[in-house]
Amino acid sequence: MKKDLPEIIERKLLTEEELKNKVAELGAQITKDYKDVEEDIIVVCLLKGSIIFTADLCREIKLPLKLDFMGVSSYGDGTTSSREVKIVKELDERIHDKHLLIVEDIIDTGRTLKKIKEILQDRGVKSIKICTLLDKPSRREVEVEVDYVGFEIPDEFVVGYGLDFAQNHRALPYIGIVKQG
Ligand code: IMP
Ligand code: MG
Repeated sequence: MKKDLPEIIERKLLTEEELKNKVAELGAQITKDYKDVEEDIIVVCLLKGSIIFTADLCREIKLPLKLDFMGVSSYGDGTTSSREVKIVKELDERIHDKHLLIVEDIIDTGRTLKKIKEILQDRGVKSIKICTLLDKPSRREVEVEVDYVGFEIPDEFVVGYGLDFAQNHRALPYIGIVKQG
């Protein structure tokens, strides 16, 4: 019900159930696609936004895998991109000759993933794929190939299920649209 939503949320965009079903669907597809892979699969969670998505997704991938985390910051404390992609935490694992599955919360301009993909590709990985929960295709500024997309969404600023507005609202179990202005 609307009155139960935090003040800044206009309305729910994706419910808990819709998220759960989509994550299961993505996990099943990834399991199928990687079933014959013999080398290590490393799931790379891009902090902080994709922490919750990664936690749910990796349990739907019915294959042995390693989990690693990379801290990436591309926004200041607001809704406008500072257009600078910074690595604020490096991976712990050696990724040479490994299969990488990068997990991202949302692709907006595409700048973050393009840069991260280039950086990781240069380390001699065996393969690299990208799985994003959300995609705002209308906002794209640079081309980046994405292998798995949960939902295409309109050009709205959203929070919840890991996504933040000035570091808040990440723990909401659903995804909500932030009120304008
Ligand atoms: P890109 O580099 O423009 O593709 O930006 C991607 C990053 O911007 C994401 O990983 C998010 O951290 C952030 N971002 C973009 N759109 C939203 C949004 O609607 N809500 C919260 N974070 C967003
Ligand atoms: Mg992010």
